[in-house]
Amino acid sequence: MKSGMKTEEKLLIRTLKGETTPVPPVWLMRQAGRYLPEYRATRETAGGFLNLCYSPDFAVEVTLQPIRRFGFDASILFSDILVVPHAMGRDVWFETGEGPRLNPWTDDQPVPVLDLESFHAHLAPVYETIGRLREELPKETSLIGFSGAPWTLATYVIAGRGKDDQAAARKLMFSNPARFKALIDVLADAISHYLIRQIDSGAEVVQIFDSWAGALAPNAFDAYCIEPTVRIVNAVRAAHPDTPIIGFPRAVGSEYVDFTKATGVDGISIDQTASPDWAAKAIQPHCAVQGNLEPMHMVTGGDAMLADIDRIRAALSGGPHIFNLGHGITPDANIDNVHALLKRIRG
Ligand code: CP3
Repeated sequence: MKSGMKTEEKLLIRTLKGETTPVPPVWLMRQAGRYLPEYRATRETAGGFLNLCYSPDFAVEVTLQPIRRFGFDASILFSDILVVPHAMGRDVWFETGEGPRLNPWTDDQPVPVLDLESFHAHLAPVYETIGRLREELPKETSLIGFSGAPWTLATYVIAGRGKDDQAAARKLMFSNPARFKALIDVLADAISHYLIRQIDSGAEVVQIFDSWAGALAPNAFDAYCIEPTVRIVNAVRAAHPDTPIIGFPRAVGSEYVDFTKATGVDGISIDQTASPDWAAKAIQPHCAVQGNLEPMHMVTGGDAMLADIDRIRAALSGGPHIFNLGHGITPDANIDNVHALLKRIRG
């Protein structure tokens, strides 16, 4: 343990500050969601997904559901990455069974401007949710706030929907680099203000989701993932120097190392395609590693799941490790498998 470290600090925070603990903190991306019957019931009552995000009563309830059921070490604010473009005046809605939709940012539309007053007013229910969660969570449970990263948010703003290849955003990047860069810049600015306000409201850790970082070629990865993340990290640290930051530039392979070194994040979430043995050598000397169980094990369970849990633990137990999946838990996951996972890790 580092000298001067407070032993009463929560497990997730200790790990993000570089401590190696005998049992890693555990939480799961998308731990609140449709695989839980209590989530489906609350969502039904709320009437729509965005109403769930913007109603503190509902958002607090669904955030707490997986904590009550499983006692994870961390709780992640229930919201969505698309509330940021929404708060900047883009239309956002969810088509049942299909996912998010936005009005596409076509060439005739100006670059969105950040009006901080209306931005924070739109997001006030999120800040209220965070404050109430800090009062209601068990004292050992950390509260994680989050945002999408500029590139991933830009892919939705530009295409108006999620697509696998991010072709619309990649096309604008090369056909009109100035316009594309202006969007990335204003998003980075908005995200910085958003994360700072989440921490002001009570978030103890923040995670930056760059879910589509794996679609970027190396130069573009430097310019539109690493560079804006550096700016966000610097802005958040200037306001809140002690709040740990987790980066998640998903599916970038060996570039996780460049990202970690350049941004100086306290933790990095790695997807299930990265080797945990490689991560132990290449990343753990620089920061805590979060991950990286194949999410399908939460559907299928059994010995294959247990073997992979053991493999990840064996590889990463010599340094700071946060046990998590490589990506979000899916709606068809089996609750019994989540219990089995926790039992395997905590004994
Ligand atoms: O429990 C948690 O992890 C916190 C809540 C959370 C949600 N979305 C809730 C959600 C978080 C952290 C997110 C982040 C998010 N949202 C990302 C980045 C992480 C990732 O998975 O890569 C992205 C790309 C989005 C955008 C988004 N939101 C999509 C593509 C979808 C549709 C896909 C799907 O699963 O249906 C959503 C909807 C969404 N966000 C749901 C939940 C629980 C399902 C909505 C429902 O109840 O119908």
